[in-house]
Amino acid sequence: MNFENILVENNEGILQITIDRPTKLNALNKATIEELHVAFEDAKEDEDVKVIILTGSGEKAFVAGADISEFSDYSPKEGKALAAEGQAKLFDFIANFSKPVIAAVNGFALGGGLELAMAAHFRIASDNAKMGLPEVSLGLIPGYGGTQRLPQLVGKGRAMEMIMTAGMIDANQALQYNLVNHVVSQEELLDFAEKLAGKIMRNSLVAISSAIKAVNANYETGVNGFETEINEFGSCFGTADFEEGTSAFLNKRKADFPGN
Ligand code: COA
Repeated sequence: MNFENILVENNEGILQITIDRPTKLNALNKATIEELHVAFEDAKEDEDVKVIILTGSGEKAFVAGADISEFSDYSPKEGKALAAEGQAKLFDFIANFSKPVIAAVNGFALGGGLELAMAAHFRIASDNAKMGLPEVSLGLIPGYGGTQRLPQLVGKGRAMEMIMTAGMIDANQALQYNLVNHVVSQEELLDFAEKLAGKIMRNSLVAISSAIKAVNANYETGVNGFETEINEFGSCFGTADFEEGTSAFLNKRKADFPGN
């Protein structure tokens, strides 16, 4: 598939996916969501992709939300389908992705943009970043997982305040709220993300994929995360990565994980 709204570049196992509609502040229209879905599907199958960094084009925005111009005349039925499809194709898809996904938030992350960043496994931000869920100012609520993921990350009271006021917080406040893990300058952002990706890639990616499942299990209704952890822990013992990791440690050498 030829992408028109995103850029995809693999740099030694680190796949950078850039949402590329800078004149619309990278707003997520349906075509962009579809392309992102395809890019993530491809990345899942591609053995040369180890870690994914998700960012926005230009200096102003990560993603300024879902594309408002596309849904302004939707009916309740169409609105419901928009949220359901978006969550299945992109937001939940990323949250449950088997390879690590880092959001490098390089400017406005609003509405669907913040929801996209929150679907990633963790976030880093540039110091000019601004984050918020402004949907109630449009007569809407967040529909791409924001009412669920924001309280998980920042706590219920802060999430309620952010959603009700439709206000934006800056990068440092987002750091205080645990919404992002690190704040760096815009020039440093991608290098910083790549360094973190490099650190991750030195470990067993097979084990990391089990860890993602176990951590996510904590947030699934009706699932006992401790049990998921026990099962995933057990499965690790059957992997070549486990054999290599433990033998490398015992032989005082660096592990070279066959699964990576
Ligand atoms: N959907 C569609 N288009 C959007 C958009 C969105 N979510 N966010 C920005 N754009 C477009 C603007 O319409 C404008 O397009 P135009 O030049 O063709 O008129 C362009 O991106 C630049 O945005 P602009 O508003 O002129 O930039 P600004 O610096 O004055 O303001 C924001 C920046 C982020 C504060 C402002 O764009 C904004 O409030 N966007 C909407 C945020 C939002 O409510 N998101 C949740 C959607 S559910």
